[in-house]
Amino acid sequence: MSHLFDSHGAVGSGWSQPEPLLPESRISLPANLIRRKMPQWPRISESEVVRHFTWLSTRNFGIDTGFYPLGSCTMKHNPRVNETIADISGIAEIHPMQPEHHIQGLLAIFSEMQKMLSICAGMDEVTLQPVAGAQGEFAAIRCIQEYHRARGDEIRDKVIVPDSAHGTNPASAVMAGYQIIEVPSGPGGFLDLEVLRSVVGDDTAAMMITNPNTLGIFEPEIAEASEIVHAAGGQMYYDGANFNAILGKTNPGLMGFDAVHYNLHKTFAQPHGGGGPGSGPIGVKSHLAEFLPGPIVKRRPLVDGDITEASDEWWFSWYEPKNSIGKVHQWHGNAGAVIRSWAYYRRYGRTLKQMSEHAVLNSNYLRHRIHQLASEAGIGSMIVDGSSAKFVKHEFTLSLSPLKEATGISALDIAKGLLDYGYMAPTIYFPLVVPECMMVEPTETESKETLDKFAENFVKVLQESPEVLHAAPITTPVGRVDEVHAARNLTLRHPME
Ligand SMILES: Cc1ncc(COP(=O)(O)O)c(C=O)c1O
Repeated sequence: MSHLFDSHGAVGSGWSQPEPLLPESRISLPANLIRRKMPQWPRISESEVVRHFTWLSTRNFGIDTGFYPLGSCTMKHNPRVNETIADISGIAEIHPMQPEHHIQGLLAIFSEMQKMLSICAGMDEVTLQPVAGAQGEFAAIRCIQEYHRARGDEIRDKVIVPDSAHGTNPASAVMAGYQIIEVPSGPGGFLDLEVLRSVVGDDTAAMMITNPNTLGIFEPEIAEASEIVHAAGGQMYYDGANFNAILGKTNPGLMGFDAVHYNLHKTFAQPHGGGGPGSGPIGVKSHLAEFLPGPIVKRRPLVDGDITEASDEWWFSWYEPKNSIGKVHQWHGNAGAVIRSWAYYRRYGRTLKQMSEHAVLNSNYLRHRIHQLASEAGIGSMIVDGSSAKFVKHEFTLSLSPLKEATGISALDIAKGLLDYGYMAPTIYFPLVVPECMMVEPTETESKETLDKFAENFVKVLQESPEVLHAAPITTPVGRVDEVHAARNLTLRHPME
């Protein structure tokens, strides 16, 4: 791939610097800070720089270039009005150290966001500090840990996680020092309460679970699961990555959860991918609130006194919970992401549940359409559902095991084949409980036409020959790469001579 450092214009070209204001003799820099040789900046003109980056941008695939059905990642359209609002100078140019009386507008937005998120999840207190779902998981698990410790309950050293969980759940718990108890899913992919009963005990610190689970199906016995864990003295943690399915319909508080994280970059239309930027606020029930990472925004009375929501004469102020686990990010979290997501939620207001309704409708429609077209093409038996549920929520899983057994074509091959049809591939090989898994999440922002076209092309890819699919992709800037090698041997620096 060509890059800027390959450009070798005339020596000294491609940059300019103003003449120093002081004569060189009067600039006394310590000798060890003075460059011995010129940096190897690319020697290239401005028009070539613009061309280079424009070219580079066309080699990326994103939600703005095509359908992106990446299950569990909720790649939805990011309304441009959110960008405009985040870019208002009174917001974008705020310095994190500005005093509270300069930034009452920003604090009002944060306060409203905290309130909205706590209502959506049925929680009592929210912090906007963590900047990823996984970081939110870790922070919330640490709050749970401190809660047990504060009660002298030191022997709880186990966290229960279903085998369909996202890998970040056990990873976050292990980072906090817990051992993982993995519980196998029961028939149909649901949580098995008998198995759960057999593993909870005096050593249970928490259970981490997402609902709908990673098979895209709602756990019907989640309230009983919460009761079982609570009866043993454990806490319930809700992985909010799948909020797109339930927002405004039900909430984790009603299901018996004590702590949740939200992925603003998924559910609340924050641009993401490629590792960021994200925002993973957490919400907790009141008994965990004193441990949250701060700062949190509170309404305070203008005159000194107790914090009260009732007073007419109030202002917004930062607040640190008294037994906080400490900060998990600098300053106030990812403020830009919070603003965009606030703008998104403000556009929906009380109709926010339509978002989930349409996400679930799209997912069920696409699942049905794929099966219908596959049957018509005589290959219906090559793909089976990851769950036996009649209806799914916002995403669904397919097992391509029959196709692999019959033809040698794997889920990876189909994913690569879809790239040649101009699509981002669905998530593959997750959740681990579905063999040769493909996880498809269309989101609410795709039209019926887009879904129909995708279903049609998906079935066409299923019918391609093994030779074609083993060689795919052939139309993308980069062909099939050794992904394990790429992930384990990252080259992050350009080799300068
Ligand atoms: C079910 C589930 N939980 C947790 C996470 C972690 O979220 P993040 O990527 O924001 O760290 C993800 C991310 O894909 C997820 O799908």
